[in-house]
Amino acid sequence: MPDLHLHDDGSLRHLLSLSGLGRDRIGGLLDRAAALRAIARSGELPPLLAGRTVFNLFFEPSTRTRASFELAARRLGALVVNFDIAHSSTRKGESLEDTLATLEAMQADAFVVRHKENDTPLRLAAHVRQAAILNAGDGNRAHPTQGLLDLLTIRDRKGRIDGLKVTICGDIRHSRVARSAVHGLAAFGVRDVRLCGPSRLLPDAAEFPDCALDEDFDAAIEDADVVIMLRMQKERMEGIAELDEAEYFARWGLSAARLARARPDAMVMHPGPMNRGVEIADEVADGPQSAILEQVANGVFVRMAALVELLQR
Ligand code: NCD
Repeated sequence: MPDLHLHDDGSLRHLLSLSGLGRDRIGGLLDRAAALRAIARSGELPPLLAGRTVFNLFFEPSTRTRASFELAARRLGALVVNFDIAHSSTRKGESLEDTLATLEAMQADAFVVRHKENDTPLRLAAHVRQAAILNAGDGNRAHPTQGLLDLLTIRDRKGRIDGLKVTICGDIRHSRVARSAVHGLAAFGVRDVRLCGPSRLLPDAAEFPDCALDEDFDAAIEDADVVIMLRMQKERMEGIAELDEAEYFARWGLSAARLARARPDAMVMHPGPMNRGVEIADEVADGPQSAILEQVANGVFVRMAALVELLQR
């Protein structure tokens, strides 16, 4: 299959995954996001997306990602249509491909797609004629703009990405956030990535040959520069017995005492939505080492960068 990410001239055609995008292209998106952020903070953003139409197609619940894409597009002057999936013709049996072709005939320039099935954005990218597809999260596969905002937030606080020790803890098995973080960190040559969680929520080791897998959070967090906490994604856990929340917090929750095992200047991240008291303590989520709201703020700018890169011609 041809690389659906790129146009023939090498420019970005779709944003489906960070895997294979490479350090230069990812770094370029981060630089563009930081530049847009600087403009936004000192004055008014130029209408770089004026005349463009962006469709939000969210087939799964979402608060921050959908709002973030919408704000990113609107603040740069695009028209945004939030497609109401619950009342759409896909519920009458129309295929996703036909829905897309219909909307494309109305001059859609981009589709932001979230779907519970792996590879739905890839499938749509293979089908679409002109419009760009931006993956806003597919199954447990990829969430590239989340990966970008995580990288930007790390670069802001640490001044670099390579050479850091990164611990990701929680439901790795079902997490597209973890996968996109691993892809992005690998592009920057980060070699010390530890994936931690209860064994039944850890991925197969073969999928992450360059990461260390560990059930013991106290060991996995030792000396970490960056600690990324993940939610238990119960909606993606078929056939897995529920874990007791208090027991989970005792072993895999991020308390202040546990965070003290990481480097003193370690930063704490979480993609949201958070289950306070289950995977993260209030004092950590709201504490000085937390970069959680910086992640949210950066999300808007990386989505602006991605939309501009895909739509400005
Ligand atoms: C995540 C997602 O939906 O993949 N949230 C997000 O986009 N910020 C993580 C989650 O649902 O736990």
